[in-house]
Amino acid sequence: MSISLEGRGLHRSFGGFKALDGVDIAVEAGQIRGLIGPNGAGKSTLIDVLSGRADNWGGQIYLRGEEVTGLKVHERRRRGLARSFQRTNIFPALAVGTQLTVAARALGNEGLDDVVEALSLGHLLDRPAQQISYGDQRRLDLALALVGRPEVLLLDEPAAGLTVEESLQLAAILRDLVKKWGVTVLIVEHDMEVIFSICDRITVLHLGKVLVDDLPDAIKTNPEVISAYLGSQAP
Ligand SMILES: Nc1ncnc2c1ncn2[C@@H]1O[C@H](COP(=O)(O)OP(=O)(O)O)[C@@H](O)[C@H]1O
Ligand SMILES: [Mg+2]
Repeated sequence: MSISLEGRGLHRSFGGFKALDGVDIAVEAGQIRGLIGPNGAGKSTLIDVLSGRADNWGGQIYLRGEEVTGLKVHERRRRGLARSFQRTNIFPALAVGTQLTVAARALGNEGLDDVVEALSLGHLLDRPAQQISYGDQRRLDLALALVGRPEVLLLDEPAAGLTVEESLQLAAILRDLVKKWGVTVLIVEHDMEVIFSICDRITVLHLGKVLVDDLPDAIKTNPEVISAYLGSQAP
């Protein structure tokens, strides 16, 4: 199995507080990797560091074996490392189609038809993002990140604010699409039903360190994971 995305010895501190304390993570090509753990475990910090959004961090990052440690967000994006940015919230007045076109131009005029179709956005292209439903906005966020079929997609709670039913629907779309396109995914999600329904493997973060990294079935029954995290989740 080849590794699509790898972080080695990742550190990030805020003042004296270690939000990431020596994290190693390697995500295999085509895999959907879940990233779970209690609030404040460092999940969003890890996504920020991997995507290039963070400053003052340490460690090395490799994309398909090539080091991207010194590259900025947009440089990593051009190399195929995408993340959802919730851009619908940044440019709420822009039409859905315009947002997608801007994203495609930034990447060198990538095609949009397949993304629009896969996320069922065709009927919304002329609507300002702020006027479409919240569920449609979440699908637009995902579409923006998927423009140009990135090699790796980082998602930080893409289903936040959706009902359980909507979350599972979004998860099913995501799973089908990334398997069809061969995208590698690292996804933070607090809904364990979503995590266990789509992930091939799961990394558990706790206090800025990797507590365990294993197959979903092993994670479910791991006593350390249950005591640090799953035990506090609703069944
Ligand atoms: N910009 C920041 N300034 C200070 N502390 C931060 C900042 N971002 C995150 N932290 C702290 O780092 C820890 C990890 O945060 P975060 O990565 O957001 O956790 P998670 O996403 O797992 O809930 C938390 O204790 C949080 O308060
Ligand atoms: Mg977070």
